[in-house]
Amino acid sequence: MIKACIFDLDGVIVDTAHYHFLAWKRLAHELGFELTPADNEKLKGVSRMKSLEIVLDLGGVKASDEERESLASRKNIWFQEYVEQMAPEEIFPGVNQLIQDFKANGLKVGLASSSKNARTVIRRLGIADEFQVIVDGTMIVHSKPHPEIFLLTAQMLSVAPEYCLVFEDAEAGVEAALAAGMRCVGVGNQQHLHLANRVVAKTAQFQLSDLTQL
Ligand code: G6P
Ligand code: MG
Repeated sequence: MIKACIFDLDGVIVDTAHYHFLAWKRLAHELGFELTPADNEKLKGVSRMKSLEIVLDLGGVKASDEERESLASRKNIWFQEYVEQMAPEEIFPGVNQLIQDFKANGLKVGLASSSKNARTVIRRLGIADEFQVIVDGTMIVHSKPHPEIFLLTAQMLSVAPEYCLVFEDAEAGVEAALAAGMRCVGVGNQQHLHLANRVVAKTAQFQLSDLTQL
């Protein structure tokens, strides 16, 4: 029985995953190599500094701690330029309705995003008040696939992990949800997300009535 639904943000509610990719791709290009969509799967759900580490490894680039700070902050400035242009119309079709359906049926709804920009993004989308609990990248020590972010969200929602369902587009996020002892709907490609209890191509393909079939 599911009592709470916990949504990841980037790639589940809105296509900011693409904006993260464009910003990392630009950084890689400036460093002299190209980042592919396949490389990007490894960055989804992963914190900014950990993502940078993966990007630098992919390009075989060495950088001091100070250089890393400056590279990460440049990537973030480009990402924020995309965010500033965002509007509520960018929320994936049907996601707002799905959240309303869950709430109307007595489920709690939380947001768990590794992004330190998560609050800015959901404010721009006009949905900040839809979530009973919001946990973002400023509130955790360990990045997904560590279960910390989901365990903290469940604790703040006062729901035991076994009654929580997570929506995730990242391999690292699916792993984190399962490690937290929760069920998980993967949003995207079956191949990347096969560990999830169910995989849908788009978030809103999952419906309230599907809760009983997990
Ligand atoms: C999310 C995204 C990742 C991103 C991370 C940190 O988990 O899926 O791609 O790297 O947040 O985002 P931030 O906005 O803090 O750089
Ligand atoms: Mg995501």
